[in-house]
Amino acid sequence: MARITAGVGSSHVPLLGVAHDQGKERDDYFGPIFAGYDWTREWEKQEKPDVVILVYNDHASAFDMRFIPTFAIGCGERYKPADEGWGPRKVPDVIGHPDLAWHIAQSLILDEFDMTIINEMDVDHGLTVPLSMMFGACEAWPTTVIPLAVNVVTYPPPSGNRCWALGEAIARAVESFPEDLNVQIWGTGGMSHQLQGARAGLINPEWDNRFLDLLEAEDDAVRHIPHIEYLRETGSEGIEMVMWLIMRGALGHKVKTLHRHYHVPCSNTAIGHIVLEPNT
Ligand code: DHB
Ligand code: FE
Repeated sequence: MARITAGVGSSHVPLLGVAHDQGKERDDYFGPIFAGYDWTREWEKQEKPDVVILVYNDHASAFDMRFIPTFAIGCGERYKPADEGWGPRKVPDVIGHPDLAWHIAQSLILDEFDMTIINEMDVDHGLTVPLSMMFGACEAWPTTVIPLAVNVVTYPPPSGNRCWALGEAIARAVESFPEDLNVQIWGTGGMSHQLQGARAGLINPEWDNRFLDLLEAEDDAVRHIPHIEYLRETGSEGIEMVMWLIMRGALGHKVKTLHRHYHVPCSNTAIGHIVLEPNT
């Protein structure tokens, strides 16, 4: 049967896609940011996931104010990098896993999570930057990907509690797929950042690190952090962190931390990254 073998959390800062594509990964500014992914790149080469369920948010590239799915699952064959204003990044197309994706969609919907099913969309930095951070430059991504898009751009985003519960339901869905597959789940987005208004530039390393501590904890207190706390402590865009709870919820109560990285500054925010293993 298919199994979720690990969870990865990562920021998806668009500037890191630019740094990667322009070969600036080891310069003075970006060096300490990318160094925190060296461990993970080596680990991924050994782990060789068959599928990554990649929880991310679209930033008005595929969706806009005309339609705003709270939770959407990509069931398509392939996804192209989106044009985010400077042309699409020159990274490989993302290859889907329609069989597992449709199975997860059916399982989630019968489990009372009313997913939006998407067969065609382009994917932006929310999805392609974490792939570059984890796999570096390549001709083809070394894994298939099931995009799972979450609305964290337009109020109201889903609660942390709902995200955690969705993660639990995803784990049930994966475990009921008969084919032997090594599946990872990634939660991307965050950390604290505000890109607009009077508090633009806000970064809260103390809160971000407490969030990472809570992800490592055996209890599930982190799922109950209310929206207002994310907004107050982590700025208007820090709510992206609720997506990490889908990843965390899928791993069960006890987890083992394999790797953790945090560095400020990174563009207008911090870089946060964690690799967790279910500890059963
Ligand atoms: C920045 C970070 C993000 O997560 C994002 O989606 C857009 C911009 C930034 O730091 O500039
Ligand atoms: Fe973002």
